[in-house]
Amino acid sequence: MTQAEPQVVDFPLRRPGAPFPPPGYAGYRGRQGLVLSRLPNGDRVWLVTRHEDVRAVLTDPRISSNPEHPGFPNVGESLGVPKQDQIPGWFVGLDSPEHDRFRKALIPEFTVRRVRAMRPAIERTVDERLDAMLAAGDSADLVADFALPVPSLVISALLGVPPADRDFFESRTRTLVAIRASTDQQRDAAAKDLLRYISRLVAIKQKWPADDLVSRLLAAGTIAPHELSGVLMLLLIAGHETTANNIALGVVTLLENPEWIGDDRAVEETLRFHSVADLVSLRVAVEDVEISGQLVRAGEGIVPLVAAANHDDNSFECPHMFDPSRSARHHVAFGYGVHQCLGQNLVRVEMEIAYRKLFERIPTLALAVPAEGLSFKHDGVVHGLHALPVRW
Ligand code: HEM
Repeated sequence: MTQAEPQVVDFPLRRPGAPFPPPGYAGYRGRQGLVLSRLPNGDRVWLVTRHEDVRAVLTDPRISSNPEHPGFPNVGESLGVPKQDQIPGWFVGLDSPEHDRFRKALIPEFTVRRVRAMRPAIERTVDERLDAMLAAGDSADLVADFALPVPSLVISALLGVPPADRDFFESRTRTLVAIRASTDQQRDAAAKDLLRYISRLVAIKQKWPADDLVSRLLAAGTIAPHELSGVLMLLLIAGHETTANNIALGVVTLLENPEWIGDDRAVEETLRFHSVADLVSLRVAVEDVEISGQLVRAGEGIVPLVAAANHDDNSFECPHMFDPSRSARHHVAFGYGVHQCLGQNLVRVEMEIAYRKLFERIPTLALAVPAEGLSFKHDGVVHGLHALPVRW
């Protein structure tokens, strides 16, 4: 018996902003098996939208994260996964057992305890950004003036970038992630500047070790210095735009649901609700595998959509409601399985401090434009806002 060719949908779907995820995802979840889709470059990939299926894909050893395998999805645009010969140490693109070496070396740097020790530094960074905003007047672009600099400054402190270089570091990372505001050449130049800077930082720490992440990783000796630059670059990129967009979108949601301002449970719910890293966990089957009754052949690309999974009403009651009182910890906003976000403890603390201090210090904070007028990133790998005009 020949099987009918499944219907092919165009992907990615345009994101309407609010509500996110795109309403089309609900229809996909209702279909049997997986959804065959066509990417802008014409490639076909399987979309995975149910919570249970996304977790199954992200824990299946027959499914790879390595972009060097033929058929790996190319969803276009910047934050695509570089290959190892471009940036050695970019371990999110490696499978076990190569991936394990990096993961094992880095886990101790992101434990709850280690992140707790970073609290005072994060609080200082957030306060400094708020001081600058308040000193500049009674309005701001919360993306450019707060949400983007905070994670960049936190990561630069984590990497041991000296305070005097943090402005340089921040301006280059901003160019790198500003998909619309900068050209390909500018982003390329910023990436080169950062890699050069980071390689120099590694060389300095080799000579003069201190009590910081780079020195500890060098001392452990399981990651070679040339790989370490790629690892640091990954931390920088993985932790910047994701966190920034989540902070900014969360502020909009909190302003729309002010009864939750001041409640730390909002952090987990904004992660689930916005699921900014919807197109981050790209995969390819390296053996034939059946998912939800659908045969996926070796060499076929798979895109597990974490936003679709986090709005699956089989796993979350009334998923389109922002309800911090729900228990949302099983969301997959940080992915799942061996590549689950390494920075998640850090993000939670960063967001908690960012929201608490922002609303404590600026209790009259309000949107300066109607919410419908906000400019959402319709085309990025990471969902978010281009700008967030606010006043107080
Ligand atoms: C991996 C989301 C912030 C470091 C991931 C993955 C997701 C994710 C979905 C899985 C990728 C995959 O399956 O291929 C997020 C979100 C963030 C955030 C939503 C903020 C709201 C951060 C921060 C850091 C970080 C602050 C570090 C400073 C990493 C690293 C990986 C990763 C290193 C790769 C882990 C591995 O391959 O073992 N993140 N992330 N992330 N994230 Fe995050």
